[in-house]
Amino acid sequence: MFFDSVVVSFGWRYALTDLSGWKVLSAFLLLLLAYNVGCIVYNLYIHPLSRYPGPKLAAITPLVHLLWDIQGKQHTTMKALHDQYGDVVRIAPNALVYRAAPAWKDIYGHRKKGHKIFLKDPALYAPTPNGVDAIITANEEDHSRMRRLLTHAFSNKALREQEEILQKYADMFIEKLQEIMGSSVSQDLDITRWFNFTTFDLIGDLAFGEPFGCLDNSKYHWWVLIILDAVKASAYLKVIWFYPFLVPLVKFLVPKHLLEKRQASFDLSVEKVRRRLARGTTRPDFTSYILKHSTNGKGVSPEEMDANAAVFVLAGSETTAALLSGCTYYLLRNRDKYERLLREIRGAFSSLSEIQLTSLVDLPYLNAVLTETMRVYPPIPSMLPRIVPEGGAFINGKYVPENVSVSISLFSAFNAASHFKNAESFIPERWLAEFKCFENDNKDAFQPYSYGPRNCLGQHLANAEMRLLMAKFLWTFDMELLPDSINWSDQKSFALWKRPVLNIKLYRAGAAIAL
Ligand code: HEM
Repeated sequence: MFFDSVVVSFGWRYALTDLSGWKVLSAFLLLLLAYNVGCIVYNLYIHPLSRYPGPKLAAITPLVHLLWDIQGKQHTTMKALHDQYGDVVRIAPNALVYRAAPAWKDIYGHRKKGHKIFLKDPALYAPTPNGVDAIITANEEDHSRMRRLLTHAFSNKALREQEEILQKYADMFIEKLQEIMGSSVSQDLDITRWFNFTTFDLIGDLAFGEPFGCLDNSKYHWWVLIILDAVKASAYLKVIWFYPFLVPLVKFLVPKHLLEKRQASFDLSVEKVRRRLARGTTRPDFTSYILKHSTNGKGVSPEEMDANAAVFVLAGSETTAALLSGCTYYLLRNRDKYERLLREIRGAFSSLSEIQLTSLVDLPYLNAVLTETMRVYPPIPSMLPRIVPEGGAFINGKYVPENVSVSISLFSAFNAASHFKNAESFIPERWLAEFKCFENDNKDAFQPYSYGPRNCLGQHLANAEMRLLMAKFLWTFDMELLPDSINWSDQKSFALWKRPVLNIKLYRAGAAIAL
C-alpha cells in the first residue's frame, strides 16, 4: 500500500515536472518562432534595404548567397539576378551588389578630404594564417605604408629591369612545348597546365627569387595544386563570419584536408621568404625593391613579407594563367579573330627573339584580344565587397545606410547586355577606335583590375606578361580546339575560376595550313 502510494505520488510528480518541462520548452520554441518571424518581417518590410529588389529568401538569410558561393555558382547567379532585377540587387539581409558603372567610383574610388573610406568587408577577406595582414587585408594606414613601398617593385622601371626574367620563362614555355612535340607534325595537349606552370614559375621567381620548378619538371608543384583548394576553403570559412557561434565547429564543417592545405601552403611561403632574405642578392625581384626602399622604419616586417609573398603568388599567377587559357579558348572558338591576330603578330616580328615588351605595347589587335578576354572571362569573376562607412553614402545616385556590405560583381558588370553591344559574343574590335558601332558600349563599367586606391598593384606586370606569352605562343605554333573542350567556358568559380582541362592540337607555325 505504502509502496503503491509512493509510486502514485511519484507518478504525479513526474507528470507535473513533465508538464512544466513541456511548458518551458513550448514557451522557448514559441519565443524562438516569434523571434524568427519578427526577423523575417523586419528584413522584408522594415529593414532600410527592404525597398531594394532581389530574391525574398536572400533578403531573409545570408545562407542563400553563401550557398551560391559554396556551389561555385556566384558569378552566373549574380548575372541572372541583375538581368532580372536591374543594376542593384539585395543578395542578403545586409548586402547589395551593383553592376552600374558609377558604383565603381562611389564604392572603390578615392575619397574627398573628410569623407570616410569604404573598408573591405571582413566576411570575404579572411586574415592570413599567421594572423598578420598582407596588403590585400591591411587597414587604411598599414595599406598606405605597404602600397607606397611595394609600388617600387611594380613600377615601369622595375618592369624594364624584370624583362629578362619574363623572357626567360616565356622562352622556357615555348621550348617545353617544342620538346613535347618532338618531330611530330602535331601534338594534342591540355594547355591550361602549361600556362599554370609558366605563370607560377615566373611569379615564384619574382616573389621568392626561385621558381616552383613546374616547367623544369613538366608537372605541378604540390603548392600550385592546392591553391584553388585553399581558396575554396575560404568560401566555407566565410559562413563562420555570419554565424560566429559556429567557430567551435569549424573543424567539422570545413573539410579537414582544405584547412591543412591552407596552412601548408602558407608554411611553404614562409620558408621560401626566409631563404630569399638569407640569400640577400640584388636581382630585380620584389624582395630587392622592398628591401631597398625600406628606410626610416617605414619598411615591412618579416611577418608582413611572408603574408604578402603568399598574396603575390596567388594574385599574380592564377589570374594571368586564367586569362591566357581564356584567351586561347575564345580565339580558337572564333577563327576569324585568331587569324587576324596571327597576321598581326607574325607580320610584326621576323624572329622569336625580336618579340620584346616595348614592341608589344603597340600591337592594337593583341591588346584588344586580351582586353576582350578580360571582359567575357574576367580572371577575378567574383565580387569585391566593401562596408559603407559611418554616416552612409550615395551609391549610384541612391542613399545607402552605414554598415551595409556593398559590391560590384565583375562578371555580371562586364557581361551585361545593358553595357555592351552583343555582350555574349567575343568581339575584340569593340576596343578599337575605328569600330564606331561599339562607341556606345559602357566601358566605364569595365574595371577588371578594380578601381581606386586598392586596385591591382600588379596590372602592368600582368599586361606585359600576358602580351609576351601570348605573342610568343602564337608566333611559334598554329593550333585548333579539340572537340572535348568545346564547352570549356562553362565553369564554376570560387572567387577564381575552377578551370577544367583545355585540350588543343598544336602544330608548328605554318604546318597546319600545309596539311
Ligand atoms: C590579369 C591579371 C590580374 C587581374 C585581373 C587582377 C585583378 C585584381 C583585382 C580585381 C584586385 C583587387 C582585389 C580586391 O579589391 O580585393 C587586385 C589586387 C591586387 N593584385 Fe592583381 N590582378 C592580376 C594580376 C596581378 C599580378 C600579376 C600581380 C603581381 C603580383 C597582382 C598583384 C595584386 C596585388 C598585390 C593586389 C592588392 C593591391 C592592394 O590591395 O593595394 N595582380 N588584382
